[in-house]
Amino acid sequence: MLTAKAVAHSNIALCKYWGKRHGAAAELNLPATSSLSLTLDALWTETEVGPAIEGQDSFVLDGTEHHDDAARKVFAHLDRLYRLASGAPRPPCRVRSVNHLPTAAGLASSASGFAALTVAAAAAFGVAVDRTGLSSLARMGSGSAARSLWGGFVRLDRGIRPDGSDCVARPLLPPEHWDLRLVVVQTTAAKKPIGSTAGMERSRTTSPYYNAWIETSESDLDGAERALADRDLPALGRIVEHSCFKMHACMLASDPAILYWNGTTVEVVREVIALRSRGLRGYVTIDAGPHVKVLCMAADAEPLARNLRDVPGVIATQVCAPGPDAHSEVLA
Ligand code: PMV
Repeated sequence: MLTAKAVAHSNIALCKYWGKRHGAAAELNLPATSSLSLTLDALWTETEVGPAIEGQDSFVLDGTEHHDDAARKVFAHLDRLYRLASGAPRPPCRVRSVNHLPTAAGLASSASGFAALTVAAAAAFGVAVDRTGLSSLARMGSGSAARSLWGGFVRLDRGIRPDGSDCVARPLLPPEHWDLRLVVVQTTAAKKPIGSTAGMERSRTTSPYYNAWIETSESDLDGAERALADRDLPALGRIVEHSCFKMHACMLASDPAILYWNGTTVEVVREVIALRSRGLRGYVTIDAGPHVKVLCMAADAEPLARNLRDVPGVIATQVCAPGPDAHSEVLA
């Protein structure tokens, strides 16, 4: 085994993934909806994978050693990757990871985290697959991670084949296609109440809106792809907000309800709508957490961020531009 380092940038879904394909092998982690994302330059994870120094697995995240569920997920993912490179049992590994993300919870660290882990481990173990193959492996760690292999605008198709072979991500347009920005508005430093896997399962089994959410999601992607190609922000923004609010309606209709928002989340959404009517064109999206992300043109990003920072309860804002591909480097 070699030691390798990888960098993967986070991504935010403009058309959301919420729900796993029912009846498929859990290990494959196949999404029930296709999704379309923007990779972000300012948020990324750097991960190094190499042989263990003290003969046992260790996972250090942001300088702290972890022995929790997060660590177990990391080592299970390494097992999966090592099986592809060699039939032999995996030797103990040392994993060191640094999140260059704001400290608040719920900012898509699983996307950049599992993408960086996959790319670093594949280089360290000598797994000979192309970027598409790496993306499918990253998906097994976290669905959103499949999209972080590429920069710019990325589509992950849900596919229909039982073996998941047509559930693949692909780059749609490079970062330089369109000078958009995403303003990340943090509304709390608290941890989210329910993880995405458990939340998706609760929505599937209890939300009366779940089927409608799944059935209507594909046409959102096609519309978003057209708006992207045409660089039509109002058309894209309308679809982005519709996809987001449909997903949250499905979550809210789960039993018990899944409510990721706090009061500040709502105030920020209202302010974005108010600013829009005054000519600052921003469009909101919200993931499985209380933070709001606002899609806009580069020229509007700073004025939007300044206004949103003044909403009571907002902790910080960060302006992100379209980011690059994930990459790795063998160190030794
Ligand atoms: O793949 P996960 O477990 O990070 O789930 C991602 C779910 C959402 O962030 C809500 C939507 C998405 O497509 O990223």
